[in-house]
Amino acid sequence: MDLELKGAKVIVTGGASHIGQAIVFAFAHEGALIAIIDKDGSQAERTAKAARERGAPAVFVVEADLSDRVQGESACAKAIAELGGTDVLVTNVGSNRPDFFLELDPDGWQRTIDVNLTSVMACVRAVLPEMIKTRRGAIVSITSIAAFGEPRQSVYAAAKAGVIGFIKTIAREYGGRGIRANLVAPGLTLPEDPEAVGRHSLWNERDEIMNPAQTDYVVKNTALRRLSKAEDIANAVVFLASERAARQVTGELIAVSGGFGSR
Ligand SMILES: NC(=O)c1ccc[n+]([C@@H]2O[C@H](COP(=O)([O-])OP(=O)(O)OC[C@H]3O[C@@H](n4cnc5c(N)ncnc54)[C@H](O)[C@@H]3O)[C@@H](O)[C@H]2O)c1
Repeated sequence: MDLELKGAKVIVTGGASHIGQAIVFAFAHEGALIAIIDKDGSQAERTAKAARERGAPAVFVVEADLSDRVQGESACAKAIAELGGTDVLVTNVGSNRPDFFLELDPDGWQRTIDVNLTSVMACVRAVLPEMIKTRRGAIVSITSIAAFGEPRQSVYAAAKAGVIGFIKTIAREYGGRGIRANLVAPGLTLPEDPEAVGRHSLWNERDEIMNPAQTDYVVKNTALRRLSKAEDIANAVVFLASERAARQVTGELIAVSGGFGSR
């Protein structure tokens, strides 16, 4: 099926590494024009080059720290100017240092909320007026199955649950103006090549945040008995972004976790 994303103007936040990079490559394969907004400018440039080789007619890079609302809004405005408009926003930026709630430093709560939730609100605020002008736009936000409650993820889970409430509300508030807004919730998704991720990717500290016992726990509790791959997440994103494939889909969440737990 032709997803009819050729020439679509797509913004991907956190598009430099891992899941975001796979999302950028999936849109490149469809022939979309892409703007990557990421804190890691040099890794984003590498991804942009690879995306052009995969078929994207143009890929722009905007370096910004999206945990800062003001930077987020101006980075999106810059991306819209480079692309000459925007049809699709994928909010993929997110970060988490897993630990039990009482072990987390309360000084870090706000940062977790800012990078995972405020960044989404800032970008949506920046793109909505543009999308409303053309009465057409798709927003796809990456949340997490952790949003439904998972040990060692409390503050991150709260922020990701906030993203779900926010995006479902945007879907209802702006559906009448031609905007669709949906969510993808990945399960545990390890990078195939941890050496290839950028310096701000969480997976640089893979040994600190994961151990084989945790991976085993996830696989054993997953219906399909395997972990998700970044491409699995990207495939769900392009489906939801496509007006042709998902014209009548809004306010929905697709979990791409292989059936983790009972969710
Ligand atoms: N990988 C998983 O197991 C998993 C599971 C569930 C949900 N998720 C969610 O999927 C999304 C992508 O996860 P990932 O594993 O690819 O992450 P990652 O850490 O590998 O990559 C995140 C990207 O965002 C960029 N970034 C980080 N902080 C930023 C900031 N403040 N401003 C701008 N850019 C910033 C990084 O440079 C990087 O390119 C996140 O929202 C994450 O919460 C991931």
